[in-house]
Amino acid sequence: MTATVIDGKAFAATVREKVAGHVARLSEEHGIVPGLAVVLVGEDPASEVYVRSKGKQTVAAGMKSVERKLAADTSESKLLEVVAELNADPTIHGILVQLPLPPHIDAEAVINAIDPAKDVDGFHILNVGRLGTGQKAMVPCTPLGCLMMLRDHHGDLSGLDAVVIGRSNIVGKPMAQLLLGESCTVTIAHSRTKDLPEVVRRADIVVAAVGRPEMVPGDWIKPGATVIDVGINRVEDRLVGDVDYDSCAAQAGAITPVPGGVGPMTIACLLANTVTACCRAHGLAEPEGLTA
Ligand code: GUN
Repeated sequence: MTATVIDGKAFAATVREKVAGHVARLSEEHGIVPGLAVVLVGEDPASEVYVRSKGKQTVAAGMKSVERKLAADTSESKLLEVVAELNADPTIHGILVQLPLPPHIDAEAVINAIDPAKDVDGFHILNVGRLGTGQKAMVPCTPLGCLMMLRDHHGDLSGLDAVVIGRSNIVGKPMAQLLLGESCTVTIAHSRTKDLPEVVRRADIVVAAVGRPEMVPGDWIKPGATVIDVGINRVEDRLVGDVDYDSCAAQAGAITPVPGGVGPMTIACLLANTVTACCRAHGLAEPEGLTA
């Protein structure tokens, strides 16, 4: 069997097009421009690349982009002041504080200081709780992107066995909540899971989000299963995922490549969340196809 390759790069482009369409309509019909603020503390090169890319794509979609770059030794209280300013700014509908933050700053405190309605990362404790209880929430971007691709490929997901490998707050846990919301039977596996190969072999859907290069071999994959690879690992100047692509592609029905799979969907979903937050803030209908 040769797996269908799920083209995240192309999918992300369609999401960005949809976003741009909604943005144009908001502007024409309501005179509203969605605004996204990204806050970066310090000079982590990877974070700087992300932030620049976010800014460019935000502007390309017709939205307002604000970047607040703060020195690495910025105090927590100063950062909280910046967040409070952005919370109070009616032209800003989405706020993202780039992680990781320097060790002297309590990241949890900062995240929970963001207005939950502007929390386009979906990391605020209220949004985490809303997602877990099936209430309308802001949903973390990477799992939202995975869900969009799964829905596109499968249509109805109900009753499918889903195994999420990894239990992070950013991907694993919210991914599991989203799949539960789709009525999948969900297992969260992690480093202490007993007999991981057997657990993964049951899955119709495998989402790998552990950050260990190529740790899932093809013989763990049930023939025809869908494999979503969230991993981005640099190995000897090559980017690889958390699954061994060639052997998994030989077993799977569909698979996301690395690069060009989940990665491009994350920023596209950040833009989608910003439009969603903007529509909610103004009591307007939510953008179709861009929410969980
Ligand atoms: N750093 C790496 N990924 C992310 C993300 O999705 N959101 C934020 N805020 N920081 C990150």
